[in-house]
Amino acid sequence: MAHAIVIGAQWGDEGKGKIVDLLCPRVDVVVRFQGGPNAGHTISVAGRKTFLHHIPSGILHAGKICLLGNGMVIDPRGFLEEVNSLRAAGIDLKGRLFLSDRAQIIFPHHRDRDGLTEDDSAQKIGTTRRGVGPTYQAKIIRVGLRGADLNDPDELRRRLAAARRLDPAWPPGEEDGGLEAIMALARDYHRQLAPYLDDTTSRLHDLLDTGCRVLFEGSQGTMLDVDHGTYPYVTSSNTVAGAACAGAGVGPGVLQGVVGVFKAYATRVGEGPMPSEEHGEKGDLLRERGHEFGTTTGRPRRCGWFDAVAGRHSVRVNGLKLGALTLLDVLDVLDEIPIAVAYDTPAGRSKRVPASVTQLAAARPVYEIVRGWQQDTSECRSWMDLPQRARDFVEKLEQLLGIRFAVVSVGPDREQTIIRDAAALDALFA
Ligand code: GDP
Ligand code: IMO
Ligand code: MG
Repeated sequence: MAHAIVIGAQWGDEGKGKIVDLLCPRVDVVVRFQGGPNAGHTISVAGRKTFLHHIPSGILHAGKICLLGNGMVIDPRGFLEEVNSLRAAGIDLKGRLFLSDRAQIIFPHHRDRDGLTEDDSAQKIGTTRRGVGPTYQAKIIRVGLRGADLNDPDELRRRLAAARRLDPAWPPGEEDGGLEAIMALARDYHRQLAPYLDDTTSRLHDLLDTGCRVLFEGSQGTMLDVDHGTYPYVTSSNTVAGAACAGAGVGPGVLQGVVGVFKAYATRVGEGPMPSEEHGEKGDLLRERGHEFGTTTGRPRRCGWFDAVAGRHSVRVNGLKLGALTLLDVLDVLDEIPIAVAYDTPAGRSKRVPASVTQLAAARPVYEIVRGWQQDTSECRSWMDLPQRARDFVEKLEQLLGIRFAVVSVGPDREQTIIRDAAALDALFA
């Protein structure tokens, strides 16, 4: 039995939610393995949009098990809001939504610290201010709190005493009083999260043992990975396919296929270099046509052209052979479409993403220009429905990246999808 991972191959917001939802009929279980409320995944069904931050994008499919893995950071308040809004929409969650008791819990002081650091312009990353970075920091310095700790008063007190000394996010000016308040909050969180808290690692293995098929859902994107992205302008977790093992508790042998989700151009939210960013009218056009405003923060996304240098990096670090190309319809009106195929850097022409953020900021994209198709693709439902030039564009990207796009998406809705290679998708779970 094979299982697969869906990851973002650019700077996030590639349409992972849509692709996970699309693959759901092929699987029994969907697992998130990193990130938390910084993610904003959208699913659109018959024009009705669902926005998910913590909860896996399999949740709209009745009966599918959704696991929030140990590698995640959870804001109890946000998680419970999501649960309530799904319930209000008539989604039955009973017996199918579980939250790892090993996942780290975001506390208000982590959120506050995220905001304070952001307000200090010298360190501004342009985070989502959801407390994700400070909570991962507490995890790594071993003073974080996990679901399993919330109902263990002695351990909680010991851990919080250590956090008071070591966690830079500890509420400023608070001493013992702060500790008691956090203890009380932890108890309250435990009471509210108890119906969902679970040993998801064991549950996942039990499900695997019974022959269930599993889809691992990444959040953010490869260029935001804490190791492989544009450090320090990154999120605080590994977002690459390899992170699924640690973040869900499975060995590498379990994971065979990886689907990299790419949008047909580039977007980025927050600070940090983006060589193919388009500042002028064309950038505005992409933003308008793609409704490029953050799902989590509402911030306008920076827009630019498809960056095949960053794309190739992503193919390599995720081991991609298969991709899904989204938002192709956004390019429908363009007469010419630039694709960044190399960077001109002070050290010469290069097809590598430099590790140095200074060098990346200085890199100038070398564009290859392809002709646009200037036709509406949003009604296309098969590969041959697409205009010839649109097919040429997709194949050009495939050639530059060395992967095959098994899915091409031409609109936000579930229906606005071209399954180009159903056999390749089936093979992911064969
Ligand atoms: P995610 O974080 O990767 O799940 O992506 P987001 O949900 O943050 O952003 C993707 C946005 O594009 C959402 O508003 C989707 O509804 C929308 N979307 C997804 N695929 C397509 C597509 O093919 N065409 C258009 N026009 N919109 C799409
Ligand atoms: P999805 O899963 C796009 C960006 C932030 C910021 C950086 C660090 O919807 O693709 P953080 O709050 O994680 O500490 O912010 O990462 N970022 C995202 N950008 N999509 C996301 O998630 C993102 N999650 C974080 O804008 O630049
Ligand atoms: Mg998003």
